Amino acid sequence: MARADFPPHAVADLNLADQGRRKIEWAIRHMPVLRTLRERYRETRPLEGVRIAACLHVTSETAHLMIALKEAGADVRLSASNPLSTQDDVAASLVRDFGISVFARHGEDREEYYTHIQQTLDHGPSITMDDGGDLTVYAHEKGGELLAGIRGGTEETTTGVIRFRAMEQQGTLRYPIIAVNDSRTKYLFDNRYGTGQSTIDGILRATNLLLAGSTFVVAGYGWCGRGVAMRARGMGARVIVTEVDPIRALEAAMDGFEVMPIAEAAERGDLFVTVTGNKHVIDRPALERLKDGAVLANAGHFNVEINLEALTEMAETVEEVRPSVKAYHLRDGRTVYVLADGRLVNLAAAEGHPSVVMDMSFANQFLAALHIHQHGQTLEHRVYTLPPEIDEEIARLKLAAMGIRIDTLTPEQEAYLSGWEEGT
Ligand code: ADE
Repeated sequence: MARADFPPHAVADLNLADQGRRKIEWAIRHMPVLRTLRERYRETRPLEGVRIAACLHVTSETAHLMIALKEAGADVRLSASNPLSTQDDVAASLVRDFGISVFARHGEDREEYYTHIQQTLDHGPSITMDDGGDLTVYAHEKGGELLAGIRGGTEETTTGVIRFRAMEQQGTLRYPIIAVNDSRTKYLFDNRYGTGQSTIDGILRATNLLLAGSTFVVAGYGWCGRGVAMRARGMGARVIVTEVDPIRALEAAMDGFEVMPIAEAAERGDLFVTVTGNKHVIDRPALERLKDGAVLANAGHFNVEINLEALTEMAETVEEVRPSVKAYHLRDGRTVYVLADGRLVNLAAAEGHPSVVMDMSFANQFLAALHIHQHGQTLEHRVYTLPPEIDEEIARLKLAAMGIRIDTLTPEQEAYLSGWEEGT
């Protein structure tokens, strides 16, 4: 394809496209549910001409979603939902090999990040697709024709859903949002097994530390925290959980983890992972108590969970000692290591969740976009989950792809479950 034939784009280097294409092909091979949906809608093209602005981590799995949406007729544009998660080779291949507009560069600064979001919105979308909420909030701030033209949006992650529920409460949400995160085929798998594995993957790729025998502190016991704690334990670490929610704390305790306040855990931990969605979870009081050599990482959406401003103030010097590892040499003689500048360690230091699990998350995204296109006009300016039939269908497709068969209720059992008469 001649350069002039490429769609509008801003990527690091189109020469990386061959490597990106191989990565995308690998992801496609491991995403059978999305492949099935592509086959189903390839002929009928139900999204013909629908303009979609997506702000997602630019990975090979996201590439597959963009390809699926384009095949179904959509005119898609993509920017990054995190400055460090873009895989430049994948971005290049999407532009060169698949004719998809991408505006994303690994390591972009805040200004470039928002320029890219603006470029993604420049074609006047009717659907937004977000991970964390930055594009949607930006579209709300811009207002005008841009906002008026948007029929609805989707949101991938807990953090974004929390932001949109707050907007709904305040009455400032101006179009319906489908909380893809809240589908069971999303959070039970992506958040738990995806974050669980990819966070450990990021930590190990960055540090090559041994988890066996280490004390590993997980801050937050939501679905992501559970996954991280479970996998760290599986690798032989002694796992401590910190929480603010009494019920989650109780669950963590009964799942067999030690539970304590972060300030106490600070004195014990060798490695720390924050997965709370909140800010300054590791704040100055905890930073002051860390052991020499402690390693801090974050797997929550934004880079606010570790108070890096405080740590910087406490430091005499900061140096990069390995890719994705910064050493903060503190005035009191201790050294504390921070991975990936406190950004999502699984995406910044590894490749994010494996394709097998993103398959279900992105099948939800695909069907959510279709749902908005087909039913958007009947939806209010609220946050919705996808209908349970869609969630179950995705689970059935995944089971079929895994070669797993399950039982169905007999008519007698169905009658029993919907009745109340039969007791003791
Ligand atoms: N979020 C977490 N892992 C991801 C991946 N591999 N692709 C896109 N978004 C993700």
